[in-house]
Parts: sequence; C-alpha cells; structure tokens
Amino acid sequence: MEVLARDGEARAGLLDTPHGRVQTPTFMPVGTKGTVKGLTPADLRGAGAGIILGNTYHLYLRPGADLVREAGDLHAFSGWDGPMLTDSGGFQVFSLAKTRKISERGVRFASVYDGSTHEFTPELTTRVQEDLGADIAMVLDECPPANAARGYHEDSLRRTARWARRCKDAHSREDQALFGIVQGGLHEDLRRESLERTVEIGFPGYAVGGLSVGESREEMLQTLAATALMLPWESPRYFMGIGDPVGILQVISLGVDMFDCVLPTRLARHGAALTPDGRLNLKNSRFRRDFGPLDPECSCETCTGYSRAYLAHLVREDELLGHRLLTLHNVHFTANLCRQARREISSGTYAAWARAWISRYETAR
Ligand code: GUN
Ligand code: ZN
Repeated sequence: MEVLARDGEARAGLLDTPHGRVQTPTFMPVGTKGTVKGLTPADLRGAGAGIILGNTYHLYLRPGADLVREAGDLHAFSGWDGPMLTDSGGFQVFSLAKTRKISERGVRFASVYDGSTHEFTPELTTRVQEDLGADIAMVLDECPPANAARGYHEDSLRRTARWARRCKDAHSREDQALFGIVQGGLHEDLRRESLERTVEIGFPGYAVGGLSVGESREEMLQTLAATALMLPWESPRYFMGIGDPVGILQVISLGVDMFDCVLPTRLARHGAALTPDGRLNLKNSRFRRDFGPLDPECSCETCTGYSRAYLAHLVREDELLGHRLLTLHNVHFTANLCRQARREISSGTYAAWARAWISRYETAR
C-alpha cells in the first residue's frame, strides 16, 4: 500500500485491489453470509463503504464455495463489485463451535447450522477463499481466549505460523492477496515472536488477531501498540474485530489501516444508533415524540429523510425498515468517521481532533 500521510503513528493511505482502490484507514462492514444484513451493494456504496468482509466459515457451510464459484465468485454472486476481504474461518470455528478439535492438520468442528462435522485445514480454507474470490484472503489461524495460559499461546502461535506457511504454499491466485495474522495473546514477547515468524514467511499484509476477545481496552491497546510498531511500514495493517467509534479512533492512532466488526450493523438491528453524542437507543421512550433527525450532522438517507419518532416507532414494531434505516446510518456514520480521520491525519491534526471527538462522544448523557 501507499502511505500518503503520517501523523504520529497514524497513517492515511491507499490500498489497491483488483476491484478498486481503498482509502485507509477504512472500516469494513461485515457481510457474514455474503450480505451486509439489509443493505444492497448500492446502499453500501452510498454509505461510503470502501471494502466489505465475508466469512469463509458461513459461506463454506451455506451455500457452499462450489455454488458461489458456479456464479463466478462472491462478487458476481452478491452483486458487490467493490473491494472485498474474506476471513479464513479460524475465528468463527473458535467463537461459534461448542466442540472443536485442533490438530497439526487443522481444526475439526461441528456446523452451527446442522451439527455436521467438518475440518478446516490451511489448504482447504485457502482453496475455499480462492473459490470465493475476494480481493484479500486470510490465513487460517487460531484465536485463543486472551486469558489462556501463556504456554497455550506459545504453542498456538507457532501452530498458526506453520498453518500460515501452508496457506501461502497452497495459495495460487495472483489476483488475490493473502494476509498473515499475528497472535500471541497479551504477551509482548509472544506477539514479537508471532510477528517475526509471520513476517519471515512474507505476506503482502498483516492482521493483528486475538485482541478484542475479552481483555480490557487498556490491555488491548498496549498489546496493539507493541505489535504495530514492529509491523513492516509498507504493508497494510488490519486489526481484526473492532468497530466502536472510540476503539476505531484509538487503533487508528496506533497505526492501523483497516478493521472490521459486526458492532455497527448488529447495534442497528437492536435499535441503537451511533451519533457524535454517543449511542442512542431508539427504544427509549424519550424518542417517541422526537420529530428531529436521528443525527443532525449526518447526511445519510436515514438522517435526511426520517425523524427519530418514526424510527423509534419502526424499532418498537420490529419493522424491517427500522433495521435497514439504522443499519444504513450506522454504516454511513462509521465510514464517515474514517473519512474524517483520514482528513485529520493528512492535515497533521489527528491526535487533538480524536481527543476532542472522543470527549464529546463519551460525555453525552
Ligand atoms: N476476527 C476477530 N479476531 C480474529 C482473529 O484473531 N482471527 C481471525 N481469523 N479472525 C478474527
Ligand atoms: Zn445518518
């Protein structure tokens, strides 16, 4: 990637993919099953989404990578022709499966859909991701809980590095980038070891995984800070699994270029909207007769076309349109936050701007 501006550790840059150029830092809305729930590709473009994410775990189980390949690829199947990334399925196996068995070969698990058993190997998740055809694929990794024993993290990160090597060996699509993933829990020396092993294999981009998995924010940021400083400057850096506005601004300040999370879209389906003055729960009775816009500073379709009172009504009635309009706003809001961050980084004013932004967001009621 091309780093256009640097402000402290924060960077603004450009990432070229076969489906277009992504301006970083960028938030990737999550389309777990090949759809960002409730939004069309046109909606996503309109909301300013630069790149979206799909999940190998879900798409492999339903509808199956062979079916997606019959359609061409996930771009053709879903109608989204912009940049896309697929996660390897490693994380979903560890977060969704009640039972799983890890071996050197891979990880066996029972499907969340029907309990059928499957095994993800580095070779299989790489092939599945080649079939899905996203612009960026991820290596198969293990993401242990942050509080796992140190010895466990040690064994796990070494296995993840061996899996990463196998993924790279299995990967053959030249029009797809394969990113490595750094693990190592909250141990800075293990993060360094994981990073060195992963960088030694050599990838066009690196993710920091295994964070935002139950540790405190402070621990997360400290571990990220130590890790990010060691990552190759010229490679894109992906923080896996953060999407709250404050967290986004914090990881950007530590040099992260891309991140994803279900939070903005999931919150929307639970009736919550992100605004510069904090999170609003539209189920709260104070919105029932509030005929003003959701976020007066937002230019999205939801904020320019509907009142809080109407949205509150839709949310209370669990109407589809309520989910959709709030999702549209939260994605637009998060994309816009990244756009503002890029602008501030380019003008060298990021730290002060982010501090003020967070202070307003957190002091709201
Ligand atoms: N999503 C959030 N955290 C992780 C992680 O550690 N690994 C993978 N593959 N995906 C993630
Ligand atoms: Zn809006």
